[in-house]
Amino acid sequence: MKNQTITVRPLSAHTGAEIFGVDLSEPVGEQTDLEIRQALNDWGAIFFRDQDITAAQQVAFGRLFGKVEAHGYASNMPSVAGQEEVKEIARNPGDVRNIGGFWHMDLSFLEHPNYASVLYARELPSHGGDTMFAHLATAYDALSPGLQATLEALSTVHIKTHAYGVDGQPRKGISPAYYAKMLEKFAGIEATHPVVGRHPETGRKVLYLSPFYSDRFDGWTRQESVPLIRHLASQITRPENTCRFRWEEGSIAMWDNRAVMHFALDDYPGQRRVMHRLTVVGPWLEPVAGSALSD
Ligand SMILES: [Fe+2]
Repeated sequence: MKNQTITVRPLSAHTGAEIFGVDLSEPVGEQTDLEIRQALNDWGAIFFRDQDITAAQQVAFGRLFGKVEAHGYASNMPSVAGQEEVKEIARNPGDVRNIGGFWHMDLSFLEHPNYASVLYARELPSHGGDTMFAHLATAYDALSPGLQATLEALSTVHIKTHAYGVDGQPRKGISPAYYAKMLEKFAGIEATHPVVGRHPETGRKVLYLSPFYSDRFDGWTRQESVPLIRHLASQITRPENTCRFRWEEGSIAMWDNRAVMHFALDDYPGQRRVMHRLTVVGPWLEPVAGSALSD
């Protein structure tokens, strides 16, 4: 690449790369901006080390990629330093529930989810708390042509309350009473997304399906759907299709929810972890020929 200003160091064959040579407390120039975008498109998730930025600078960075939005569902999370768009996600030693501790794409239960998330590590446990990422395009590429063609005609229904429990059973750390309350609070919050979408920037086909939020294939029963959803999830999360990011204080991760799914590991019992998150809105996945939404 001409006039290259950054160094891109991939973490695995397909997913995730560390970016060096950028100080996000300074304005990012046009060429650097282009290179960061290219890295995000190439790797689905990018990581910066040793950053020391304010909430306002985190917002400015997010704005390079689209509209920064404080999402309604995060309204009960505290904002950071008067920046409404930057939310503090804190996990305290006594907290049983681990937010994001499952394979998912953020807010996939909405019709237009945010496409990118930017997470800044402020306080970390002494060990553990890594985040894993898995690429949705390489997962699609690895399927047989027959299964690819079949999936292009299918959609799944993503349901918000699956974060708290599924099939009447609360998840780990969720009491039956809290699950019942969340079922009532978020009743009807769901979205149907084609299983195969085209990434608007790379043009690659991706497998947009969540083993956690996807309840069923549209028009199928849950019982019929679960075995195939599980199979596809196992393909997306094959170890060689993932990367694992080890956080340090000052690390920033940015990922594209149209290209990767992620998993926040729950392996730091009794310790505190604080992250600052913002979300970026932009063009969503495009339909592919043969998809349920292409006509
Ligand atoms: Fe997440």
